[in-house]
Amino acid sequence: MKSKMAILGLQLQQRFPVLTGFSCSCLSSATIHVRPVSSVSSKLKKWNNGGRLPRRLVVGLGVSFWAQYMNMAGNSKSFMASARQKSTVEQALQNVEWPEQFPFKDEDFQRFDESSDSLFYEAPRFVTHIDDAAIAALTKYYSEVFPPSNTPGVSILDMCSSWVSHFPKGYKQERIVGMGMNEEELKRNPVLSEYVVQDLNLNPMLPFEDNSFDVITNVVSVDYLTKPLDVFKEMRRVLKPGGLAIMSFSNRCFWTKAISIWTSTGDTDHALIVGSYFHYTGGFEPPQAVDISPNPGRSDPMYIVYSRKLPTA
Ligand SMILES: C[S@@+](CC[C@H](N)C(=O)[O-])C[C@H]1O[C@@H](n2cnc3c(N)ncnc32)[C@H](O)[C@@H]1O
Repeated sequence: MKSKMAILGLQLQQRFPVLTGFSCSCLSSATIHVRPVSSVSSKLKKWNNGGRLPRRLVVGLGVSFWAQYMNMAGNSKSFMASARQKSTVEQALQNVEWPEQFPFKDEDFQRFDESSDSLFYEAPRFVTHIDDAAIAALTKYYSEVFPPSNTPGVSILDMCSSWVSHFPKGYKQERIVGMGMNEEELKRNPVLSEYVVQDLNLNPMLPFEDNSFDVITNVVSVDYLTKPLDVFKEMRRVLKPGGLAIMSFSNRCFWTKAISIWTSTGDTDHALIVGSYFHYTGGFEPPQAVDISPNPGRSDPMYIVYSRKLPTA
């Protein structure tokens, strides 16, 4: 059966893996956007884990090989490719030796479509952006790490929210705030107690008191942030000490709106990129990556990069 998103023809587009130094980003039409990734890989190559081969180099070779194998086999989702990716994503943030300075430049945060985000999100999209199995995996993960439903004093912020937050069925807290770009979508979201419409690329300041939230979630949208460090600094400010930030992503995106460093790299690099946001913001525990992909190779992958605000931050 076709998924809800495919029927509506509004799904996020899957990106293809990096191939021999070039990336073809998320194609659904004849428009091909090809960009050399040498600048990206040279930055990521510096991130090694304890004297072994630079992680990016190993991953790059593997992905290219499997991409070519899959193309030849006419099978875009082989089980072996997914199994390989699972382990590399989970290892992505183990023992990283981060460069002293944030390794990305302004151009890494440019998008193919630099027009106003308000325009892009003007019309509501009452669709899901990942398949049902990936949503179920995320909901299950939330049920394992969220504070119990109806805990007095607990507040949650769902950033880049829409008409769904994928929280466990019946989950409630006194305060669950949604932030997003489309008011009609946010109004329809049943778990939210309040919402804020704000373009975080124009104004990354979060309109909340310091130390307000126990958990911050962001589902399949961290790749649209063009000022991620400013947003993560704000996340640190509004999280309570020990508060948990959960960034989840798959391999789909509105590629014209995703930052170029995202569309030119693969899943493992994405974990490193999100991890770097926590690391260079500071005041967070070392970020961790978890692969919660259901039915590897048969449904959308789902990855989490999470961290907690340090009690002293
Ligand atoms: C792919 S949708 C994901 C929506 C929702 N998190 C979900 O899982 O269905 C991307 C979301 O990112 C939000 N977003 C994109 N650009 C944004 C921006 N500049 N500022 C704030 N939110 C943004 C939009 O509101 C949109 O709902």
